[in-house]
Amino acid sequence: MANPRATLRQSAPSAQAARLEAHWMPFTANRQFKAAPRLFAAAEGAYYTDMHGRKIFDGLSGLWCTGLGHGRKEIVEAVSRQIATLDYAPAFQFGHPLSFELANRIVAHMPAGLDHVMFSGGSGSDAVDTSLKIARAYWRVRGQGGKTRLIGRMQGYHGVNFGGISVGGMVANRKLFGQGIESDHLADLQPPAGSYWRGEPAERGVQLAESLLELIRLHDASSIAAVIVEPFSGSAGVIVPPRGYLARLREICTEHHILLIFDEVISGFGRCGAWTGAEAFGVTPDLMTFAKQSTNGTQPLSGVVVKKEIYDAFMNAGGQEYLLELPHGYTYSAHPVACAAGIATFDLLEREHVPERVRKLAPHFESAVHGLRGARHVMDIRNYGLAAGFTLEALPGEPARRPYEVAMAMLEKGFYVRYGGATIQLAPPFISTPAEIDRLVDALGETLNHTG
Ligand SMILES: Cc1ncc(COP(=O)(O)O)c(C=O)c1O
Repeated sequence: MANPRATLRQSAPSAQAARLEAHWMPFTANRQFKAAPRLFAAAEGAYYTDMHGRKIFDGLSGLWCTGLGHGRKEIVEAVSRQIATLDYAPAFQFGHPLSFELANRIVAHMPAGLDHVMFSGGSGSDAVDTSLKIARAYWRVRGQGGKTRLIGRMQGYHGVNFGGISVGGMVANRKLFGQGIESDHLADLQPPAGSYWRGEPAERGVQLAESLLELIRLHDASSIAAVIVEPFSGSAGVIVPPRGYLARLREICTEHHILLIFDEVISGFGRCGAWTGAEAFGVTPDLMTFAKQSTNGTQPLSGVVVKKEIYDAFMNAGGQEYLLELPHGYTYSAHPVACAAGIATFDLLEREHVPERVRKLAPHFESAVHGLRGARHVMDIRNYGLAAGFTLEALPGEPARRPYEVAMAMLEKGFYVRYGGATIQLAPPFISTPAEIDRLVDALGETLNHTG
């Protein structure tokens, strides 16, 4: 049989375009992509190999999910063994041992009190919608069914399902899709251009969190189920809450009997230099989502960790024991192969002391990225752990064009970086060396200075 990769590489441009047509790619400019495809063929460690055999440094850890580097033998072997042993087990009313083992491994790294895991279908988006449904159902089983409204934050990103886009605050992701669910939004945390804050900003944390009091005044706490925020926003371009912000949100939620959800799809399992964003920022939510990094990108696996009090509310709600406590789940919830990948990933995260490793590398990363202050087009730089966002000056009427051009020029130089809105985002693998980080940032500086 012909090697499909070779065939695609060798085919004439028009034949190639026709073969690419059937796949409607997600979050992708399809027309542009299919005219000039960017395809990766293999990956190892911190590098991809593209279809032309070029090595490309993985400056975003895949999509924030492959921090341990690609092709980790232990994960590959665990997945292969599991497929051969038990490729699938029904997720409802039956089970398999690995989901229980993995739930315990996850809980062991949670802040005290977060101790029950509801796995979702594998994507961050369904972890988010699962958390929102649990929050509403919790109040309902507690006899307060009027608490249904969900509060997110302007510029927040919580995936693409209807719950997630309703609480999400990225306008472009909402406007095509009509009525969502009952929600409202806190003020955004975007620093003024030219702030160049390193890590947690010092200013206005409490004041910004108190925009929640305005929403409570408007809607009344009796109608609000939960507040959901990312500990730091990744997709909006690495926006870090000012000191005191998350702690004040926690206080207000507790005082007004509103659940606090941290969406840790990006911040979970190492990226912050801690096991979770909750640990890094010292604030414990009532529910926490996770997804990316849980299997090092090898298998879809996601879920929600909840406090015992929430789990118990469902278990103690009464009714016959053979009846479901929560009518929710996915065919692929805690898929056995994904759980095997998850356990092998936790083995590596623990053995390689990833949070500590990220903490040690983060200061080098911080000074490298802030070294681009003054580079052409740069209007702001933000960072946290091993994540950084650069806001670029917009071309008139086309805020998204320059980041795209920069990312394409970076690819030419052998570096994959993410472009979104007016930003360039970096999230290098945890296994990166300081020299690799320097090469990535130097290439970005050079590219910015040569981009019109
Ligand atoms: C905070 C957050 N929540 C949810 C999601 C959605 O995850 P997925 O793309 O796996 O559905 C993302 C993805 O970037 C995210 O950053």
